[in-house]
Amino acid sequence: MDKKVLIAYGSRYGSTEEISQEIAKVLEKQGMQVQVVDLKKTKSKDWPSLESFDGVLVASGIRIMKWMNEPQEFLKKHRGEFQKKEKKLGLFISSGFASIPENREKAKNDWIEKVMNKIGVKADIYDAFGGVYDFSESSRMGGLDKRMLKMASKGMSKEFGIEIDEKGRNDFRDWDQIRSFAEKFAELMKS
Ligand SMILES: Cc1cc2nc3c(=O)[nH]c(=O)nc-3n(C[C@H](O)[C@H](O)[C@H](O)COP(=O)(O)O)c2cc1C
Repeated sequence: MDKKVLIAYGSRYGSTEEISQEIAKVLEKQGMQVQVVDLKKTKSKDWPSLESFDGVLVASGIRIMKWMNEPQEFLKKHRGEFQKKEKKLGLFISSGFASIPENREKAKNDWIEKVMNKIGVKADIYDAFGGVYDFSESSRMGGLDKRMLKMASKGMSKEFGIEIDEKGRNDFRDWDQIRSFAEKFAELMKS
């Protein structure tokens, strides 16, 4: 029978959403049935139950060092089911800091391991992906968020020597890293 996977994400500006969609594509290519749910846009009473799923991926974008509330609430709601270890659990984040490969271990520690410890779940696999700094006209970021991110990006430019276009869309996600994570999750699902 086809394995069923749920990808439940919270995304403020669309980066985690696009990563979720790419992971879904990889899993579908591997013959899995995938449902992708935007936890912010979907009322919590309409969040799918986990019963029919063999694996679950939960994801969040990072803003001011924090996950969005909804994916944390989702993990808390299903903590008991995840603790039984009957389903594979994967976690991932999209963060500006993790755009620099050398920062990813720290990002995993600060923003995934700490959340797992706080909530009391242990994922089978987790990873930190880079983010999008979208300063373009079509950006989903509000003026205040853009200004805050611009300030942070100046610091990042200085510290890590990366170039940031202050008027454009800067996409620092590593799609090979993302697809490789999805393939590893698919392997886990088959084991
Ligand atoms: C106001 C604001 C605050 C942010 N704070 C952080 C932060 O504390 N750490 C970080 O690594 N990235 C931070 N970012 C960058 C986001 O994590 C990055 O843009 C990510 O791709 C957002 O994912 P999303 O679009 O799925 O919400 C921030 C972005 C904004 C706009």
